[in-house]
Amino acid sequence: MGNSTMKAVAVVPGQKELRLVDHPLPQVSNDKEIKVKTLDVGICGTDREICTFVYGEPPQGDDHLVLGHESLGRVVEVGDAVSRFKVGDLVVPSVRRPCTDPRCKPCCNDKQDYCINEQFTERGIKQVHGFMTEFYVDDEKYFTYVPDDLRDLAVMAEPLTIAEKGLAQAYAVQKRLPWACTDEGQPSGKGLRAVVLGAGPIGILGAMKCVIEGFDTYVYSRSKSPNPKAELVEQIGAKYFSKYDISPQELSEKVGNIDLIYEAVGGSEFAFDVLQVLGTNGVFVFTGIPAPETRLEIDSDILMRRIVLENLAIVGTVNADRKAFEDAIADLGEFKKRWPETIKKVISGRYDISDHQELLVGKSKGIKNVITFS
Ligand code: BGC
Repeated sequence: MGNSTMKAVAVVPGQKELRLVDHPLPQVSNDKEIKVKTLDVGICGTDREICTFVYGEPPQGDDHLVLGHESLGRVVEVGDAVSRFKVGDLVVPSVRRPCTDPRCKPCCNDKQDYCINEQFTERGIKQVHGFMTEFYVDDEKYFTYVPDDLRDLAVMAEPLTIAEKGLAQAYAVQKRLPWACTDEGQPSGKGLRAVVLGAGPIGILGAMKCVIEGFDTYVYSRSKSPNPKAELVEQIGAKYFSKYDISPQELSEKVGNIDLIYEAVGGSEFAFDVLQVLGTNGVFVFTGIPAPETRLEIDSDILMRRIVLENLAIVGTVNADRKAFEDAIADLGEFKKRWPETIKKVISGRYDISDHQELLVGKSKGIKNVITFS
């Protein structure tokens, strides 16, 4: 490998291949950019899906897409006009980049997560290379500062932004209930009940967020208990139920009125089963992006009646703006304070870049697996 290239994990969709490529070393090319040395990159369901070639798109003119959209790195170079970072700072990057259409108000206002024309790009996912490589460069506005004591955890900031934005939206909807979430000095979820669907990383981080927000929190998952994820859930003061042990109906009888359902399973079948037991005036937040495979038969009239007569709200959420990243960093700090041992266990393994095949196309295992760059 020469001086001008670096190792990167990439998919080559034309050849249906996942492999290590030599990728050009990125350079700071304008004065608002920073150059970051990668420390950690998380592996997520989206990466694994891109490796099945049903999702993901290389940049125009390239045959490959460098993977990775969950990252933590250290700043090694700053452009002359950079004001928010200095060399040595720890940072996490966001994923979405704006479209170039001047009529797209969200993108013109740094809210590309609400892009109106699907022309946005996403690092490591859609038309821009990702972070599963040794260095990356981008405008400073796409980064969030990380305090040094979160060095071991901050790679989880990006998946946690999903919960940050999801809950922010749920609260926005619940402003319609002026008596809810408003007790002075109390967390916003106090007295409310949240069900998190799924006990993968998005589910566990989402459950942690619900617990610190004061919700009575239940995790309902497809895995039989006891299992290590169920243990983790119990350690944070939430309750774990498996769908093998109780039906959605039984779940709702145990929980009482379900005020919030946070979907983190990625598949529509389980999600729509549980949507039917969302409580009166409740909010259902969808976060998963399933491959288009499943067609369901549902009691659609009954569901529609309930949606109307009981003011049910269904919200989709895709991450995320800088505020969500800042909130995720602050909350990781809070998780570390409350559950120092448990939060560490969410990272189930740290691996070398040479393990990429096993991590991305091997049997799914553990919770959050991370590639650590030396
Ligand atoms: C990422 C998001 C991204 C979404 C859709 C998720 O895995 O966390 O940042 O917008 O995939 O591509």
